[in-house]
Amino acid sequence: MVVRERLICRSDALADSGDGVRFEVKRGDETVPAFVVRYHGQVHAYLNRCEHMPMELDWKPGRFFDAEGLLLVCSTHGALYAPDTGVCLGGPCTGALARIEVDERGGGVYLKG
Ligand code: FES
Repeated sequence: MVVRERLICRSDALADSGDGVRFEVKRGDETVPAFVVRYHGQVHAYLNRCEHMPMELDWKPGRFFDAEGLLLVCSTHGALYAPDTGVCLGGPCTGALARIEVDERGGGVYLKG
């Protein structure tokens, strides 16, 4: 089986608790928005879709973290998510953000599969 990977961004584009990088993924026949951030040195990627309502999270393109850089925040109604798991920690959301598998190596962040 051939595993195809797609470069999302260079590793140095993601500062710890800094701006994320937006990208798109295929889900069935749809192309949907997603994003990747770095938190405690690790990269984490999710669909850019709040669990409260199907809205994108970032308040400006790539701005996902709260002011302290500790939580991901939805700009619409303030849902709070853990950056490393996507689990809802506060606000009107339930459940978790949909995780996307990514891999970081050789100075790049790649979308798996
Ligand atoms: S749409 Fe995200 S908190 Fe309501």
